[in-house]
Amino acid sequence: MTKTSNAMWGGRFAAGPDAIMEAINASIGFDRRLAAQDIAGSRAHAAMLAATGIVSDSDADAIREGLLTILSEIEAGEFAFSTALEDIHMNVEARLRELIGAPAGRLHTARSRNDQVAVDLRLWVREQCDAVDTALAALMRALVGQAAQGADWVMPGFTHLQVAQPVTWGHHMLAYVEMFARDRGRFADARARMNESPLGAAALAGTSFPIDRHMTAAALGFDRPMANSLDAVSDRDFALEFLAAASICAMHLSRLAEELVIWSSAQFRFVKMSDRWSTGSSIMPQKRNPDAAELIRAKIGRIFGANVALMTVMKGLPLAYGKDMQEDKEQVFDAADNLMLALAAMTGMVADMTAQKDVLRGAAATGFSTATDLADWLVRTLGLPFREAHHVTGALVAEAEARGGDLSDLPLDAMQAVHHLITADVFTVLGVENSVASRTSYGGTAPANVRAQIARWEEVLK
Ligand code: ARG
Repeated sequence: MTKTSNAMWGGRFAAGPDAIMEAINASIGFDRRLAAQDIAGSRAHAAMLAATGIVSDSDADAIREGLLTILSEIEAGEFAFSTALEDIHMNVEARLRELIGAPAGRLHTARSRNDQVAVDLRLWVREQCDAVDTALAALMRALVGQAAQGADWVMPGFTHLQVAQPVTWGHHMLAYVEMFARDRGRFADARARMNESPLGAAALAGTSFPIDRHMTAAALGFDRPMANSLDAVSDRDFALEFLAAASICAMHLSRLAEELVIWSSAQFRFVKMSDRWSTGSSIMPQKRNPDAAELIRAKIGRIFGANVALMTVMKGLPLAYGKDMQEDKEQVFDAADNLMLALAAMTGMVADMTAQKDVLRGAAATGFSTATDLADWLVRTLGLPFREAHHVTGALVAEAEARGGDLSDLPLDAMQAVHHLITADVFTVLGVENSVASRTSYGGTAPANVRAQIARWEEVLK
């Protein structure tokens, strides 16, 4: 016995789909997450159909009421989702027919699932942009809090993960604040661009019914309807922009996570992670593992993967809609869920961690970190060209290294043996505090600069 054909579109079919066909075709397993957006879109559409006289007020009222009932059924977990009904759109519509009878059949006038799903996903991604923005602001506040606590704490700055020059803890924290602020900008840009309504594009060509797309666009909080019906149903740029912004944001999170992994190691001890954000080992009793940081570091893999996956789905699609596009949702959901989780975990870790001021200070004074300050002194005080000063400083570093100490441990006569004009004044620039205090150029690491930037961010994030 063959199954009966699909109640929604099976008019021309004598038999139902093969079980495997049903399995590959159905999206209800994941697009049920669009239920609230689907119902909002349908309610706006029904109101417009009534306002334009395309359906009667009483039918539209019944539809709008019935949709609210369905929403509460879904929210209460009482809704029976059916794979045979493929997706959220047809599940909702089928239930509407059960609830209100014949008027349910008028809802799909002047509409297609192609514009319907495009509206739903746009609304969902738009909400995520707002949620991510809030989460990013919270993370930035936690970083600014860390910066404020150690605005003038000296730590080594690295290039190539080799000690380079002393910087301040506050400056290092604020570097991430800048990154996450750009992320907020990217999500905001994407949100502004995606805020156009595809509803009313219908299947691909628009409709002969006298619909009012401006009305539905306004009702759903869109700035305007999309101008081209083919583009409206075939565009997934909004999802891709979200995934691209999410990828860059996850990359920033991953870099910070990597620093936390390094900094919390026994070799560095720059930060102590709180118990709440550490895990133990089942065999090694001494361990405090930074699992959350490691998992955040790994999240970039799936988030960037989602971006690549959807780009790949879209790249060869002729206009307009193709069923390929059904594959957009799981990528977007997974990326959004994991980005939100990573942001929350990072915010908690950053807020709870304790920077080890003395360890940072000690590490800052190693690795000849003030060699550039010494070279600059030679330029400023003795008038040497920078290249020559660089060379002289290199010889001094070699001498200090041979003696097993740092630059500030070199006796003056050993320095004068390298360059006879060096005076004891040089020692004033070899201290790490002096080094950071002297970096007052705009954007530099001097504590005075850092405090000004903290004040700026506290104002922005208020
Ligand atoms: N479940 C579909 C999707 O996610 C909805 C649109 C189906 N449109 C169609 N013409 N079959 O893309």
